[in-house]
Amino acid sequence: MTDHRSVKGTRDLLPPETAIWSAVEELAREVFALYGYREIRTPILEHTELFERTVGEATDIVSKEMYSFEDRKGRRLTLRPESTASVARAFIENGLQSWQQPVKLFYIGPHFRYERPQRGRYRQFHQIGAELLGDDTPLSDAEVVLMLVRFLARLGYEGLVVRLNSLGDPASREAYRRALRSYLEPRRGDLGEESRRRLEINPLRILDTKDPAERRLLADAPRLGDSLTEGAREHFGAVRELLDRFGVAYEVDERLVRGLDYYTQTVFEIASEELGAQDAIVGGGRYDDLLGSLGGPELPGIGFAIGEDRLVDTLPESFSGRVSHETPPLVIAVGEARPVDAFDLCEELRDDGLCCEVEVRERSLGSALKRADRQGVRQVLLLGDDELEAGEVTVKWMDSGEQERVPRSQVAAEVGAER
Ligand code: HAM
Repeated sequence: MTDHRSVKGTRDLLPPETAIWSAVEELAREVFALYGYREIRTPILEHTELFERTVGEATDIVSKEMYSFEDRKGRRLTLRPESTASVARAFIENGLQSWQQPVKLFYIGPHFRYERPQRGRYRQFHQIGAELLGDDTPLSDAEVVLMLVRFLARLGYEGLVVRLNSLGDPASREAYRRALRSYLEPRRGDLGEESRRRLEINPLRILDTKDPAERRLLADAPRLGDSLTEGAREHFGAVRELLDRFGVAYEVDERLVRGLDYYTQTVFEIASEELGAQDAIVGGGRYDDLLGSLGGPELPGIGFAIGEDRLVDTLPESFSGRVSHETPPLVIAVGEARPVDAFDLCEELRDDGLCCEVEVRERSLGSALKRADRQGVRQVLLLGDDELEAGEVTVKWMDSGEQERVPRSQVAAEVGAER
């Protein structure tokens, strides 16, 4: 063991698990493409101010979880803790308002938050996210959720329930902020220091509290739903009708406020029983003021991000079991044939797009076969003196012990065939 270890909260993903990650990502690409999403890749580094302005200074993410530092020129930079702000910045910077609207983008990649590491919580974690920008109709809310649900269903998840809420439009939220502040102001003494600070900056953030005493205090607080304007109520009603129509299992959870400040109207989360209710595998929502707040066009948006680490952690066996870990055929040279002759054959097969490996050491046939068996090799291609001379190869099936000599030109057809 050396003294060099990975940074706390980060980890190496190794094969064969990486094959599962790739399969999950491939399926995301496939399902998202059905809905017209295309990939965006934004930098992992952004100006710190981007997240302060959008995710919000009073949030846990900005106030205590960001990896921020000054570069050599004193610029304040941050390893992205999420990507919606980055996508919004990129949308504005690259003038995507001139594209056909809505613009549908997805991303897959690492994100960074300084959190206490535990199962399903890492300091470098991975998100698969999607953002739909430029449309504010309830159909877009429903489509985003439907795409997410379709993806999770294709992964084999069953019985997942979408928790849904509406934060309303700015007028609804302002009214609620006032109501919540006047409820909490006289009870300020019962609030912790953090919540007292939030009472000034953004009282909605207090609803996120995990403190039991504060939770009790909040039980009788005014309800967000009561502050919704007529327009916000209608929007939410329409979204719910659409989700009903398409058979999406959801429940309205009035306590769901999400831990980022840019949300407006519809917000949602999906939690996995396995990880516990605290730990959502997906979070998302509408952000109709985000682009405008960054000095861009007044265009709405909605999206979600899936925690890929949590997804892979809780993946149904029906999906992960299908990801193939098959060991490719092994080409073994025996007798006068040299490993380089096996190499020759292997390169020919690879020209045909077939996977194979070469036994690179010269060993006896017996020990080469034993090794192949231990590695789970199911098919062996033997190249001996006779075979070399006759321009043939012996194909051997390890399970049944059957073997057959075939002309070299026909080996490709036998590779991977059952016997
Ligand atoms: P978020 O809820 O902060 O939303 O994160 C989305 C998901 O990322 C979470 O549900 C969780 O699965 C995963 N996640 C977050 N932190 C960690 C961590 N430390 N370790 C492992 N997984 C984690 C957002 O990030 C928004 N940008 C989502 C969004 C997109 N809203 C609209 N568009």
